[in-house]
Formats: sequence, C-alpha cells, structure tokens
Amino acid sequence: MMCVMVSEPSTRGDTSPPEDEAASVKPPATDWDSLAEWWLTTFSNGADAEYELQILPLVAEHLTGCRTILDVGAGEGQVSRRLATALPAPALVVGVDPFARQLANAVRQGGGPVYVQSRGERLPLRDGACDGVVCCLVIEHADEPERMLAEMARVVAPGGRLVLVVNHPVVQGPGSGFVDDRILDEMYWRIGPYLTETVGLEEIDPGIPVRFSHRPLSGYVNPLCSAGLVLTRLEEPTPPFEFLTDSLDLELERSMPRLCAMRFERPRERLDPLGDPEGA
Ligand SMILES: C[S@@+](CC[C@H](N)C(=O)[O-])C[C@H]1O[C@@H](n2cnc3c(N)ncnc32)[C@H](O)[C@@H]1O
Repeated sequence: MMCVMVSEPSTRGDTSPPEDEAASVKPPATDWDSLAEWWLTTFSNGADAEYELQILPLVAEHLTGCRTILDVGAGEGQVSRRLATALPAPALVVGVDPFARQLANAVRQGGGPVYVQSRGERLPLRDGACDGVVCCLVIEHADEPERMLAEMARVVAPGGRLVLVVNHPVVQGPGSGFVDDRILDEMYWRIGPYLTETVGLEEIDPGIPVRFSHRPLSGYVNPLCSAGLVLTRLEEPTPPFEFLTDSLDLELERSMPRLCAMRFERPRERLDPLGDPEGA
C-alpha cells in the first residue's frame, strides 16, 4: 500500500470505498495493457529496490533446483528472466499473462523464458506439469483468485513447489498503513479490517489506479492446503533501507513487512493424518 502524510489520522493512499459500499460495488478489472510501459519503467530492470534486493533473490532462492518453472502473471518478465538465468541448473521457464502488451515487452527483452498468453485461472498445462510455479504480486489482481489458486496447485508435480508472493495482507491491506497524526503528534501503523474480504481501487502512482482484492492469509493458505499442498516456508522480509528513503519513521516502517512470500510443496506421497502414507 502506498502512504500519504496527513494532518488528521488517516492512512496513506487508501482509496477504498466505505465497507458497506465496497461489499456491493466491484471496480472494473485493471487494463494491464494500458499500464505496460509504466510497469516496465517503474518496476523493472533495476528501477525498483524491492524487486532488486528482495523479490527476485527470494523467488530464485525458493525455486532453486526446479527444472520446469511456470511464472503466472509474468508481466514484462523480470521474474521469469531471473529464474532462467540465475538458477544453478538450467531451467525451462514459461511465463503466462493474459495481457498482450505486457508479454510483448517480455518477449522483446529475451533472456531465455518462453511466453504464452493465458489467464492464471485457466492454465494451458496438464496436471503436475511443473516442478516449480511462481505467482508474484498477481493474485490480488485476479478476477477469480480461488480459481487461480486451484489451477496453480493443479499443475504442481509431486515433489514440486509453488512460491506465492503477495502484498502482506495483515499490514498492507485496505485501511492499513503508516499514519502521521499531526494533531496528536504521533506516528503509528494502523491495521484495517483484516478479516473482511474486499475489492477496491488503489492509486499506486499519481493517475494510476489499480484494482486490488484483499483476503486474509487463511484465504491463500487454506485453499492451497485443501488442494494437497503443504506450507513449508513463510517469509516476511524487512523493508530495505533503499526502499524507505523518504521515511518519516524508519524504525517503525522497518518493523512492518510489505511483502509475504509463501512456499508450498506437493508431497511425493499422499499425506494421511492417521499416518498411513497411502491414505488407505
Ligand atoms: C503487479 S504485476 C506483476 C508482474 C510480475 N509478476 C512481476 O512481479 O514483475 C501484475 C501482473 O498480473 C497480470 N494479471 C492480471 N490479471 C491476471 C490473470 N487473471 N491471470 C494472470 N495474470 C494476470 C497483469 O497483466 C500483470 O502483468
């Protein structure tokens, strides 16, 4: 979530409608084709400290050893490119995205991955086709997040992994953010209505409204566990200094995560709560 300074308590950049309104009005899906050049210049090829210092190394670390990797919502391809070049063993990396201009930027930059135009909600792959799947800052923009989660789980092979990176829903959700209350002369972090699932618009750069859906962490973990995956790692990186150059309270902002990365694995054998590996 982006933040603004205020003279009365309020969070930075929160453009969500009131809760009762939010429940009934779903904003239109974001046209990522119209944002393709903005995304490329603002976030890619070293422009964004968070991608450079945290997101790209984290994703590569958790997919090390994978040989056939699917990048869902690849955008202009920086995650795909990193995986195609940085992993010790050469990997086949396939990036999918429904937006043609995003993919055109990805193809233009080359770097090894191949790209296919597809929504994450309907992946053109057979069951268990990949030993690595990554979905980085995409699921919050999906029309049907439940369906996308089910599709991603479906294509993870036994022994394979899924790395899901989201804006941290506990402290970056609607109504949450850094508050500079100049009346009470205090700065603090406000937490919005965490358990309430909402869909709203957020202006993440001046004149760039993007639709985000919010769900609690259980809304990601439980559907994937129900689809047979096991959560094996959860990362909440400290925001890098380089990202907080305008911070009014560095200590406070460094204590609140911006990202949450979850690694799930599909066991080679079916797990049974009573201890029988075959579940008989
Ligand atoms: C915030 S960008 C992230 C791009 C890329 N994953 C990265 O981290 O650089 C969100 C991406 O999600 C894509 N997207 C939106 N709806 C999608 C859907 N239903 N299925 C797959 N990708 C989608 C957009 O086209 C856009 O490229």
